Amino acid sequence: MNFNYPKWLVFQVTQRCNLRCKMCYEWGESGSYFEKPELMDLDIQAAKKVIEELAQHNPYYELFGGEPLMYQHIEELLMTFKKYDCKVDIPTNGTLLKKYAKTMVDNQVRRIWVSIDGPEEFNDNQRGHGVYQKAVEGLNEIYRIREEQGSTYPLLGVTMVVTPYNYKTIYSFFTEEIDYTLLDNISVEFQLYITEARYNKCLTFMEEEFSQSSFLGASGLVRELADFKDIDIDELMGQVLKLRNFCEEKNINMIGYPKTMEKENLMHFYQGEWDEMKDKRNKCSFPWIYMEVSANGDVSPCHTFYEMKVGNIYEQGIMDIWKGERFQEFRKKLRNKVSPVCCACSRYYSDL
Ligand SMILES: C[S@@+](CC[C@H](N)C(=O)[O-])C[C@H]1O[C@@H](n2cnc3c(N)ncnc32)[C@H](O)[C@@H]1O
Ligand code: SF4
Ligand code: SF4
Repeated sequence: MNFNYPKWLVFQVTQRCNLRCKMCYEWGESGSYFEKPELMDLDIQAAKKVIEELAQHNPYYELFGGEPLMYQHIEELLMTFKKYDCKVDIPTNGTLLKKYAKTMVDNQVRRIWVSIDGPEEFNDNQRGHGVYQKAVEGLNEIYRIREEQGSTYPLLGVTMVVTPYNYKTIYSFFTEEIDYTLLDNISVEFQLYITEARYNKCLTFMEEEFSQSSFLGASGLVRELADFKDIDIDELMGQVLKLRNFCEEKNINMIGYPKTMEKENLMHFYQGEWDEMKDKRNKCSFPWIYMEVSANGDVSPCHTFYEMKVGNIYEQGIMDIWKGERFQEFRKKLRNKVSPVCCACSRYYSDL
């Protein structure tokens, strides 16, 4: 593989969010964003400069938040992607989806991932009253416009975050509650978390490797093991495996994590024994293929863990950062190991 340029770039376009989903490590009950002194939106001119600079390399883009559709320059950004024929994915809580449905089809966004955490009652308990209806209306609207225009894109997906509260609804939600015929993709993602003990290890790692005394990105993930103790693992596994069969039958692409749906593996996951899991990794390829630009312009090589800063797009060109000394140093440090927070990173469970 050619590592001379990033294959995948995430723009955190805004840190703001209009929801307070209970399990969210950013804006949830113990989310780290409550501690942020100031909430930022990405500078649109700087973002455009990055897209222009990388145009010849054609990386895959993803937007992130907070809630990406709250970004004040979302339309201008999507038009810029279209201008350079860029492929882009957008995850969203769905509340503003209807408003931007036409813009997304017109600008040929590749994939939209709407976060819905189960049937209406369950979703709204976890994500907020009235959110389910808005998300479903948004999905319907994009589907309608896409069909009307005879367009392939955006492909539509639903992401469900599995928690102790909603796990028994996985199968019925996708097969009976939501109109699965609208969907190209389904992602079933277990709520990621770390224990207090693991968090302390993360702090030590940050201090030793990067001489940094705080790790806000990890603090929002801390949960008690007791929160998960009532999960019936057989039931949970059964739900996911049944859904896998259903998706195969209906030709819907299904992804998610953890990867290994085996009882012992899931028991380790819920007992905070990540290093015993079959999914355990000793190395992550993301720092060699990926970069993430946060709303204040900082660039990090890792998803969500914005403190691992290797540059800032308001001060340097994106390729200078990609090839820069700080990025190289970071890669050197993670050449043969992962950090203690990686077990709570979605990328840890990917195939890359
Ligand atoms: C942080 S949100 C940002 C995008 C947008 N606001 C949304 O909700 O889709 C990205 C994804 O992370 C999921 N998420 C939030 N907290 C999580 C957790 N503790 N573990 C796993 N996924 C989580 C959300 O449900 C959503 O699918
Ligand atoms: S909408 Fe997304 S960012 Fe906002 S609280 Fe929910 S999961 Fe977190
Ligand atoms: S798994 Fe670890 S190294 Fe890989 S992207 Fe996530 S935080 Fe970074």
